[in-house]
Amino acid sequence: MKRVGILTGGGDCPGLNAVIRAVVRRAEGELDVLGFRYGWAGLLDGDSLPLDHDNTRGLLHRGGTILGTSRTNPFKEDGGAERIAATLEASGVDSLIAIGGEDTLGVARRLGDEGIDVVGVPKTIDNDLAGTDFTFGFHTAVQIATDAIDRLHTTAESHNRVMVVEVMGRHAGWIAVYSGMAGGADVILVPERPFDVDEVCGRIRRRHDSGRSFSIVVVSEGALPKDGAESTASAGTDAFGHARLGGIAVDLERGIEERTGYESRMTILGHVQRGGTPTAFDRVLATRFGVAAVDATREGDFGRMVALHGTEIVRVPLDEALREPKLLDPDLYATAEVFFG
Ligand code: F6P
Repeated sequence: MKRVGILTGGGDCPGLNAVIRAVVRRAEGELDVLGFRYGWAGLLDGDSLPLDHDNTRGLLHRGGTILGTSRTNPFKEDGGAERIAATLEASGVDSLIAIGGEDTLGVARRLGDEGIDVVGVPKTIDNDLAGTDFTFGFHTAVQIATDAIDRLHTTAESHNRVMVVEVMGRHAGWIAVYSGMAGGADVILVPERPFDVDEVCGRIRRRHDSGRSFSIVVVSEGALPKDGAESTASAGTDAFGHARLGGIAVDLERGIEERTGYESRMTILGHVQRGGTPTAFDRVLATRFGVAAVDATREGDFGRMVALHGTEIVRVPLDEALREPKLLDPDLYATAEVFFG
């Protein structure tokens, strides 16, 4: 029987376990499945475990990933690609299913160029991967952020405060716009549109002048002030060159309070958005992706990523998915703007 390896790389997100379960179920009787631990690190070090029906039971609703994950970039390691090829050879693995975002799938594409057969599965709460309408994990993150905004709404109202809610979203404001629209935000700030804090304050003032006593501002962690830089939580970058973002809400809280005189408070939702149970939508999407990835593997259709187009699961070339990030649809932002203060 042929053997397929599977790994989860990059930031975790709800639905990873549902993909693993679906891969094992679809492969049953036709392909052996070997799980590699901690993303590409498992392939560099030969750290793996056989996956079967029994050890992938009860996973559908569990957040995180039973395989573990990491931001390891094998192309930053000496002889990384050769070490991966050697691991595959030694463990009798014929092809890989890589579950990840732009970084993990970027490695998959490069390994493909080096002759390794890979199928990609798109994952990121940020929803910024091209080639697919949605990635799994996004819907869950939006629901978590929306629930938080609903809670902040009631306390904002009691205290007549401006609440600034920072959500994830490194390059794209999908989480901010979806959760902001769902939660009735008065201003939404996203990486695609550098903002002017005076304009933000102008909107809040107009809203308060017309009788409202509180406001909700939703901001992506990657949003940029027009005359400034993105807010980073620490110096340095990860193995893929990404800074650790976080903290724009701290500056906004101060900036809004100083300019308007309205009492302001900020909340950074952070990794809460990546934890816990996936929504039904994400469980179903992850399951469909897992089944489709095995089908592509069985047909030898490598160098492709399974994707959602409308309501259909399709396959797209990894190249297409990785050409550039999928930024916010300007029409969606324009719709959200109708409801700004
Ligand atoms: O890429 C997904 C993401 O959740 C981003 O929104 C965020 O900037 C980043 O991962 C955080 O990564 P880490 O878990 O390494 O802090």
